[in-house]
Amino acid sequence: MRSLIFALSVAATTAELVPKASALALPNPLRRFGGGLGKRGGEKQQPASELLTPGETLVAGAAARMVAQTILHPLDVVRTRTQAVSMGTSSLAESLSFGLIPQVGLSAPAGAIQFTAVRKARKALENALPDDFVKSSQGRFATQLVAAACGAACAGAIRIPQEVMKQGCMVELYPNALVAFSTILAEKGLAGFYKGAVATITRDVMWNSLSFSIFRLLLDYANTSNPKAQYSLGIAAGWLAALATHPFDVAKTRVMTSSGDLTVGLFAQLAGLVEAEGWQVLLSGLVPRLLYLGPLASLVLATNEVIAGALVKARGKAARAGGA
Ligand SMILES: *[C@@H]1O[C@H](CO)[C@@H](O)[C@H](O)[C@H]1NC(C)=O
Repeated sequence: MRSLIFALSVAATTAELVPKASALALPNPLRRFGGGLGKRGGEKQQPASELLTPGETLVAGAAARMVAQTILHPLDVVRTRTQAVSMGTSSLAESLSFGLIPQVGLSAPAGAIQFTAVRKARKALENALPDDFVKSSQGRFATQLVAAACGAACAGAIRIPQEVMKQGCMVELYPNALVAFSTILAEKGLAGFYKGAVATITRDVMWNSLSFSIFRLLLDYANTSNPKAQYSLGIAAGWLAALATHPFDVAKTRVMTSSGDLTVGLFAQLAGLVEAEGWQVLLSGLVPRLLYLGPLASLVLATNEVIAGALVKARGKAARAGGA
């Protein structure tokens, strides 16, 4: 419980300071915890998030997702209402808080499950694979890629109901979260909360596995525990992952918004689009996606590192105070 309160207060501080993250630049508290990695090219510091106990991983992951999704909620409302086919008549300003309760309330369990599953999967992979590979940059990228895919898939159990309820509120299908919950349950039962499951999971798995693994690779290269640097690397990871997955996003949007017979596969779909509309079609909607996914990756991943760093530091302090 104490570590939860601690993590939440760190998270709150982080949330306030994100725009001027330099204020957060702690005097590299993690230096002495580094090591054990990258035999070639000198010792690299291990990311703080990888030094956590299972309980700390859960707390840091929950807090990181909560911070990220709370800060980005207004942007998410704008995004959802721009894409929606039909919605209520409220003004933009009125709508900014719609769906905040399911968004924030479910962000913590989603984050806890996600980061816990990533940790478990990564540890299992690292145990199964040769040591040399696991400690190389490629190995770190690959294990994180697969682990993050597992994390996103597991988090789907919470993420899909979160999307269904929050988006229903955002477009004013439901006046509030409670009505959303009871209406969906009454009309469609539990299955109602998993509407669009395949689309949501596919998107989450592709983008999360890439952003998590690119972030881990960048952290490895940068060899830094400076929060400002970590938030910047998070944006870069989010952008690169968004770019790489964008063609699929374009194809998915076309499929979901078209009325025709859609029996062609994703790649055939893409080839058809490029032939009919030119390659520029692959860039459509890219800017709004970058605007949202850069900050999302940064806030989730770097906040997780910052909280992890604080937890590790607090643990070191407690050990020195109690043990020595
Ligand atoms: C990474 O950073 C640590 C601590 O700042 C330092 O001791 C180490 O030499 C660095 N490793 C490389 C390869 O730059």
